[in-house]
Amino acid sequence: MKRFGPYLLLAAASLLTTLPAWAELEGLALATAKNCMSCHNVERKVVGPSYKDVAAKYRGDKAAPARLASKVMEGGGGVWGVVKMPSNPQITDAEAKRLVAWILSQ
Ligand code: HEC
Repeated sequence: MKRFGPYLLLAAASLLTTLPAWAELEGLALATAKNCMSCHNVERKVVGPSYKDVAAKYRGDKAAPARLASKVMEGGGGVWGVVKMPSNPQITDAEAKRLVAWILSQ
């Protein structure tokens, strides 16, 4: 159940993406399923910055969603410290955009 939980949640949530609470759950389920949460947490820094810190840093930056979606796919560093984010080839372009939209709404 632990392994399939995120996928079940994702399937359920994607039926109801129009509701904000479900969009929130879907974002978390996708981030969990795609392994983002092994280095990130919404509230606190782990290996990478907390998603709340990322959202605060780029609030009002209209170029941020596209730039961050590319960075999530390709990886990179130099913004939050010396540790680099590895590339994430397990996600599609569309998934990167959805993940970044969810992160920036934190
Ligand atoms: C192996 C650990 C690791 C994994 C897995 C990981 N990240 Fe990161 N992430 C990092 C680190 C480290 C940074 C800080 C990079 C820097 O300083 O530029 C970061 C930075 C970020 C940023 C901010 C980039 C910036 O330029 O401000 C976003 C957004 C992000 N990650 C999203 C994701 C998403 C979405 C996933 C899953 C697809 C993911 N990360 C998976 C380690 C990770």
